[in-house]
Amino acid sequence: MKNMKGGVAVVTGGGSGLGKAIAQEAARRGMRVVIADVQAEAMNAAVKELRASGADAIGVLTDVTSAASVEALAEAAERQFGPANLVFNNAGVASGGPIWESTEKDWKWVFAVNVDGVANGVRSFTPRMLAAAAADPAYQGCIVNTASMAGLVTAPGMGIYSVSKHAVIAISECLYHDLDLAGDQVKTAVLCPSYVTTNISQCYRTRPADLANESGPTKSQLATQAISAKDLANGSLTAEEVASITFQAIEVGQFYVYPSPELLPIVKNRLDNIAAGSNPDIPYEDIPMFKERRDRLKEALAS
Ligand SMILES: NC(=O)c1ccc[n+]([C@@H]2O[C@H](COP(=O)([O-])OP(=O)(O)OC[C@H]3O[C@@H](n4cnc5c(N)ncnc54)[C@H](O)[C@@H]3O)[C@@H](O)[C@H]2O)c1
Repeated sequence: MKNMKGGVAVVTGGGSGLGKAIAQEAARRGMRVVIADVQAEAMNAAVKELRASGADAIGVLTDVTSAASVEALAEAAERQFGPANLVFNNAGVASGGPIWESTEKDWKWVFAVNVDGVANGVRSFTPRMLAAAAADPAYQGCIVNTASMAGLVTAPGMGIYSVSKHAVIAISECLYHDLDLAGDQVKTAVLCPSYVTTNISQCYRTRPADLANESGPTKSQLATQAISAKDLANGSLTAEEVASITFQAIEVGQFYVYPSPELLPIVKNRLDNIAAGSNPDIPYEDIPMFKERRDRLKEALAS
């Protein structure tokens, strides 16, 4: 998709981190921007920053876990600016630790945001984008879902986050196949970043009270949080760099967006094992990040 200038971008989770950087990159490319977030204050601040830079932007308070809320977002965006050209289903939260320790409420919350959130975006926006394509042969659109490298590999303690991001990859691939049946004006892409320094380690800030756990985290969950916080702080790319890479990929119609391609050998290792019917096997000695994760978790489980 080449013609972004003057188009409309909608970004869920646009009040912070990757979503905020994506919204800023869209504005830099001359797009009108709709920021959707469940946190009013962060969303309003992001909109204010965009407007101060001269962009045409609005905020729509949205909870992506609610189909009605995402439908209201699609309506509000279209009413304000006309049909969206780029839709970033980006809002996401994380939770880790040994998979058997995750509570029913952990599963419900992470899946509601990371999986239902993307499904709701796809359901509300795709028909509108296809209608815009039918009405205007010059219209171009792309739905970009934020997954993660955790959607392509599995590792100790990545638990339900990894499972949810595998679902985002699968939703995106299914959307790719289905959109292929409906012409060539509406595309999709899936963003698979590795660690990026954002506010995701404080994602509990948006966890609804009715999905709060009755008891605090276990030792191994705390160990996972500490390792993840360290890995996030050491992220090799900034959110702005990931946003820029994402737009370059959209421009050339690339489906899988890999801001950290140096990690792809881990994906290949996993796929080779799957194809060979071999048991899952991470080359820990070659990947210090995963080795440390495994060692710290082992210690926590044994203590
Ligand atoms: N930071 C990383 O290292 C990393 C790596 C891979 C993938 N990701 C993915 O990137 C996406 C953005 O995360 P981030 O790292 O920028 O985190 P972040 O916490 O900085 O931003 C996430 C935003 O999503 C919003 N949000 C949370 N729940 C919501 C809901 N129910 N409805 C609407 N908005 C909601 C938050 O309010 C926040 O503004 C997520 O999908 C995350 O899984 C992040």
